[in-house]
Amino acid sequence: MKAITALFSTLLVLVNFPGYIQAQKLLAVQKVISPAQVWLDTNGNAINAHGGGILFFEGVYYWYGEHKLEGKSEAQFADGGIHCYSSADLVNWKDEGVVLSVDYKDKKSDLAYGCILERPKVVYNQKNKQFLAFFKLYLKGVGYETSNVGVAVAGKPSGPFIYHHKFHGGGSPNGSGDFSMFRDEDGALYHLTVRKPDKTFVIGKMDDDYYYPEGKYNVCDGITMHTEAPAVIKRGGDYYLLGSGSSDWKPNAARYFTTDKLTGKWTFHGNPCLGVNSVDNIGIESTFGGQSSFVFPVEGMKDACIAMFDIWKPENPVTGKYIWLPVEVKDGKMSVSWRDSWNLEDLGQKSGIKKLQMIDN
Ligand code: DGJ
Repeated sequence: MKAITALFSTLLVLVNFPGYIQAQKLLAVQKVISPAQVWLDTNGNAINAHGGGILFFEGVYYWYGEHKLEGKSEAQFADGGIHCYSSADLVNWKDEGVVLSVDYKDKKSDLAYGCILERPKVVYNQKNKQFLAFFKLYLKGVGYETSNVGVAVAGKPSGPFIYHHKFHGGGSPNGSGDFSMFRDEDGALYHLTVRKPDKTFVIGKMDDDYYYPEGKYNVCDGITMHTEAPAVIKRGGDYYLLGSGSSDWKPNAARYFTTDKLTGKWTFHGNPCLGVNSVDNIGIESTFGGQSSFVFPVEGMKDACIAMFDIWKPENPVTGKYIWLPVEVKDGKMSVSWRDSWNLEDLGQKSGIKKLQMIDN
């Protein structure tokens, strides 16, 4: 009888095997970040937040990125809006859903399905107690020639975000392309972007509400023309801008620049990457197969920063993967070394911190 019961239970487990695996996935707490590999959220689904950025607010990290639609290539309009995830440890991410959707009903809406909505970045405005999402917005039917910066607002980091307005970046009627929204220590927000159509890299200061650029944009002297995918971070009084060249969805070599004054002259330093992506066997001439999207400091860990890159898959964008790597900034130089897998503890050791110094918020 016992043998029959045991056989029966084994059969039941086997029949339910896919469900069992799913349950295991749900329960497993991830310990490491594995660049260029599928990254599952806490529901066991692949994270869908491309070209993204991070906001740290009240002890929680929020990852906002492009929500890519299943079954659509870039040519078939894969942009579905902004997808948000939250995490306390930067490794395990909870799905907060699509916090700003393209509009599937109103063909006249700025966000009408068929628009291109890329590279969302969220910033908190202390004065208005408002979260602002900025994104590249190419209206439906317009293509990549003329761009807008779309702005959506929310009362809490997990949204929902409500579309607010758009503006042409770079002070150009053609707008601007890839961008970074850099908030300086004094609360001033800057829009650093590649102007269209001439591909000069420029900087503009936003007004106090962070709604519109205030005054004229300045050319960033020293930043190479056609620099895309900019990500800015401040370390020890200096600003570091990590970016890429321009080659559509295909990867090219990363580059970085530094300055001690945002509107001053920048110095070009070449490629900060080191090593080889052992998953795809791609080296630094193609940034491990990725393109930068954001660099951010780890809260409570002195000098620890992380760079985010995207491996684009224009034929099936939802399958695009992420490369997150520690950034080392030392003696005015930036480096981003490949690692097969890593965690915040490694980051503490690498940045010379004897003991992990996570601050409790
Ligand atoms: C590179 C940009 O960085 C991406 O955001 C996207 O606009 C592609 N080019 C389109 O080719």
